Amino acid sequence: MIMTVNGQTKTCGLIGNPVEHTLSPVIHNMLAEITGRNLVYVPFRVEGENLADAVKGAAALGIQGLNVTVPYKERIIPFLEGVDALAQRIGAVNTLVQAPGGYKGYNTDMPGLYRAMLSDGVSVDGEDVIILGAGGVARAVAVMLSEKAGRIFILNRTEQKADAIAEEVNGYAGRQAVKAMPLSSWKDLPDGKYLAVQATSVGMHPCIDDVLIADADFYKRIHTGYDLIYNPFETRFMKLVQKEGGQAFNGLKMLLYQGIIAYELWNGLSVSEKQADRIYERLKESL
Ligand code: ATR
Repeated sequence: MIMTVNGQTKTCGLIGNPVEHTLSPVIHNMLAEITGRNLVYVPFRVEGENLADAVKGAAALGIQGLNVTVPYKERIIPFLEGVDALAQRIGAVNTLVQAPGGYKGYNTDMPGLYRAMLSDGVSVDGEDVIILGAGGVARAVAVMLSEKAGRIFILNRTEQKADAIAEEVNGYAGRQAVKAMPLSSWKDLPDGKYLAVQATSVGMHPCIDDVLIADADFYKRIHTGYDLIYNPFETRFMKLVQKEGGQAFNGLKMLLYQGIIAYELWNGLSVSEKQADRIYERLKESL
């Protein structure tokens, strides 16, 4: 995949721990190839106590751009020269772009999800949405959707966590966009059809038979189900949505587009849909 590494080659990479199973090198090295950039992308496994040094060292080495993954998306923020407004609001950074003195932090996960939805033909404008879960990912989804969706219901096993997100996002949004509910109260959702985003790790490999809600009646309310998991390619949540006549998508396109948006930030270019499709096919083969 890497063409020729020579004196002009730029380096980008991923900071996380662990990083061994990442698909990001597939995305970025193929992007470099098809956009004709002399760039390589490599994973860097960093121990927590070395995070500050890693950021400083990367800047000193002129690493052109970095992605950040678990468990550092929040912890890396104090070591940056600035944080973009959306990333600030989400409270998590997954992309570092060179800035005077170091790096500026961005969040491309949520714009990535939005672009994935566009690419899948899923509209969020004015839609009533259910978000399942209230972890960091669910919070980010709520922040993003609060600007565009209609009513948003966050359902979580621990209601207080959903409450905290609702309160914070409603503050930003300046309207009562988000309502928190305990997971067990899904029957109290107002009548109607929903776009549902599954934002927990429940159902992820190897526990592929797990699902937050197993009752078919829940899925009758869902016209579109988005699971942010992509391994397995079809989760039990997705199967239940489809069984009741809804359309279902996994998180692989979100992964693809968060990478594409990061690459666009690093290189100041736009990746076309056709190029994105080629990388998507390669990603599917890499799973
Ligand atoms: P992340 O930050 O990556 O989103 P997280 O903070 O671990 O991950 O959040 C995981 C979410 O999945 C939480 O909303 C969690 O529910 P609780 O807040 O009640 O812990 C939810 N979750 C995980 N396992 C679950 C399970 N077995 N049943 C119900 N909810 C579960």
